[in-house]
Amino acid sequence: MSESSVRQRKKTGTSDGKPRKAKTTQQSLPGVNQQNKMWARLVLIVGIAVVVYFTTFRTREKKFATQRETLELRTQKLDCSKLYFEEIAKYAGCIPADCGRFVSDKVVGPAEVDVLLNLAKSGFRFGRSSGGASILDLHSGALSKDTQFINIYKIPEAKAIFSAEHINTYKHVKDKIQLAVAENFKINKDALFLTHPTFFSRLTNETAKTIHDEYWHPHVDKETYNSFHYTTLLYLTDFGKDFTGGRFVFIDSAGKHNKTNVYIEPKRGRVSGFTSGAENLHHVEQVSAGVRYAITISFTCNQEHAMGDPKFSLDEDDGPELM
Ligand SMILES: *[C@@H]1O[C@H](CO)[C@@H](O)[C@H](O)[C@H]1NC(C)=O
Ligand SMILES: *[C@@H]1O[C@H](CO)[C@@H](O)[C@H](O)[C@H]1NC(C)=O
Repeated sequence: MSESSVRQRKKTGTSDGKPRKAKTTQQSLPGVNQQNKMWARLVLIVGIAVVVYFTTFRTREKKFATQRETLELRTQKLDCSKLYFEEIAKYAGCIPADCGRFVSDKVVGPAEVDVLLNLAKSGFRFGRSSGGASILDLHSGALSKDTQFINIYKIPEAKAIFSAEHINTYKHVKDKIQLAVAENFKINKDALFLTHPTFFSRLTNETAKTIHDEYWHPHVDKETYNSFHYTTLLYLTDFGKDFTGGRFVFIDSAGKHNKTNVYIEPKRGRVSGFTSGAENLHHVEQVSAGVRYAITISFTCNQEHAMGDPKFSLDEDDGPELM
């Protein structure tokens, strides 16, 4: 006897007498049955809504540059924010062909990174924030010290760290990054000026003590520093090796509930550059272990906000003033 014929026989069997009893039970509680169906539907609808919500409105994640890859150049074009575009339109030769961002691992060489990392480490021996974020600004001399800033050019012992190699490498790397910005955004490099603040940063997982230690808040550079038009970063240590956490994150919004976090994983010698307007809202993740070193090199199109190379001088008369 085949299986199907067994089923057939069972079906036929239940058709006489017995099923009527079940039917009677069902008929005696119509309200309960209706309610069950209603609940089942509700659960289904809520379930679908939750799935739709999390697939549609969740924050997406995208890796723009991972630590493992070595990039010649990766770019992403964006629409300029309205305010940024209106402002930069005043500076002929400095208007980007497109707003956006780029990453390149080919602008700065490993030997140059070694020199700059050595300079940073030497400088931070004279001062560090007691929270997680220290800065060393060789233009103004500002160096984090506990919960305040001191002037590194007022420390006689610090003179020894400013070797000719340090100074020349700093200037040369700045020039190469300026050229990379000019090429990528198709602007004239001579229409671009270095601006304040340009600084080394040293980030750790120590608990923040002041607002200066809280580097992880999303922000727009143009709103934080009015002079900025193009922001660049040069990473001096490796994500995943020298430190964990501390990725750079752009937050791209296409509507209120449609966000994408776009990650740059720091890598020795990696340069990232972006237009400083609201099209590039960003933050840095908190470092969870290790030490993250980088340099922020900022450019303006407004010559009034231009600043020169650091003097690396301890001479009170022509040494930089602490800003
Ligand atoms: C969210 O934004 C992305 C990128 O702009 C777009 O491709 C996608 O269709 C958007 N999704 C929704 C649900 O709006
Ligand atoms: C902070 O980082 C150090 C290593 O740099 C690690 O040993 C420690 O566990 C970290 N602390 C926290 C709270 O994550």
